Amino acid sequence: MLAKIKKNKAYAPLLVLGIESSCDETAVAIISEDKTILSNIIFTQLEEHKPFGGVVPEIAARSHIDHLNGLVRKAMGQAKVDFDNLSAIAVTSGPGLIGGVMVGLMTAKAIAFVRNLPLISVNHLEGHALSIRLTEDINFPYLLLLVSGGHCQLLVVKGVGQYERLGTTIDDAAGEAFDKTAKILGLDYPGGPAIEKAALNGDAHRFKFPRPLKGKPGSNFSFSGLKTAVLRERDKLCDGQGGKLSNKDIRDLAASFQMALTDAILDRVKNGIEHYLKNYSLHDHIFVVAGGVAANSHIKEKLSSLCNECGFELKAPPMKLCTDNGAMIGWVGIEKYRKQQFSGLDSGAVARWPLDPNAAPAIGAGVKA
Ligand code: KG4
Ligand code: ZN
Repeated sequence: MLAKIKKNKAYAPLLVLGIESSCDETAVAIISEDKTILSNIIFTQLEEHKPFGGVVPEIAARSHIDHLNGLVRKAMGQAKVDFDNLSAIAVTSGPGLIGGVMVGLMTAKAIAFVRNLPLISVNHLEGHALSIRLTEDINFPYLLLLVSGGHCQLLVVKGVGQYERLGTTIDDAAGEAFDKTAKILGLDYPGGPAIEKAALNGDAHRFKFPRPLKGKPGSNFSFSGLKTAVLRERDKLCDGQGGKLSNKDIRDLAASFQMALTDAILDRVKNGIEHYLKNYSLHDHIFVVAGGVAANSHIKEKLSSLCNECGFELKAPPMKLCTDNGAMIGWVGIEKYRKQQFSGLDSGAVARWPLDPNAAPAIGAGVKA
C-alpha cells in the first residue's frame, strides 16, 4: 500500500527525515532540498562492540531499538520542525545487518503511516554514492570508490538508481581488512585509525606483503590474502621472541600492511579510470572517495596523486558524511522524491541489494557484491 502523498504542501523546498540503522550507527537527520542539513545526529555503538573486535549483529539490532525513537525526537527538535513540515520519510532498507535494517524500516513505516507521509526506501550504498551531491554541485556521471567496513566497490555513478559497477571485493571489505589486521596486531577496534596511527612511525618496506590481484584485468578487489600474510609474519616474529611483538614490529607490520593495501587499491582503481576514460570521455573527470576508510591520509594522498596524473579531480564528502549517517539517506530521499520514487508500506528489508543489478556476481563476494 502506498502512503498517500500529501498534495497541499505549503513548504518548499522539500524537507526529508532520513533514518540509518544498517550497521553499528543509529543515525537520524533532517535535510532540506536546498542542501541545508537542519540536523544530523549519529549515535555510534562502538563501545558496545569493542570487546568483540567487530560488530555483533544481535547487539547492534537491540541497540538501534533502544536509541532510534529518542534520536528521531532529538533530530526534529534540533531542526525545529514538526512532522507536519516534512515532505517524506527516507530510510535505509538494505543492504546491511538485517535486524538493524528492520528496526529502522519499521520505525519509518510507523511515522509514514501515522503522519500520512510518503515512504522512500533507500539503498545504503546509494546513500554513500550520492552524499557528495549534498555538499557540492556535481553532475552525473562520476567515478566513485566506496571503501568502508562493509564494502569496497568501484562504480560509475550515472544517475539516481543508475550505476555501472566496475569492481567489488571478492572477499573482505577494505575496512574489514584494517579491523582484522588490527586484531592480529593486538591493536584497538576500529582497526583503521589504530593502524594508521601505528604506521606513522613504521618502516613500510620491512615486510614484503602481497598486493592481491595486482596486474590482473578489471577492478575487483581482494584483501584476505594480505591479512593472512600479516598473521603469518606475526606468528614467525612471535615464535622467535617468546610470543610477543615489539612496538617496532607492530609499527613496521602496520606500515607495511597499509602500503600493500593502498598499492592494491590503486592498481584496481587505475583500471577503472581507464575504463571510464574510454566510455565516458565526454563527461567531467571527477573521482569521489567515500566510506570510513576514506579517512585514511595515506590512501587519500596516493589517490590524489593518481587522480592528478590521470586528469581527475578528487573529491570526498566531509568526514561526518563519509561514515554512516542519516543525512546521506535523507539526501537520497530528496533525489528520489524529485523522481517520484516512493515505496509502499509493505516494502521489505533486503540484506542484498546491488546498485548495479547487471553486474556479474563476484565469486566469493556474498552479500557484499
Ligand atoms: O563507513 P564506516 O563508518 O562504516 C561502514 O559502513 O562500514 O566505515 C568503518 C570502517 C571501519 O572498518 C574502520 O576501521 C575504517 O572504516 N576506518 C579506517 C580509518 N578510519 C575508519 N580505515 C583506515 N584508516 C582510517 N583512518
Ligand atoms: Zn556505510
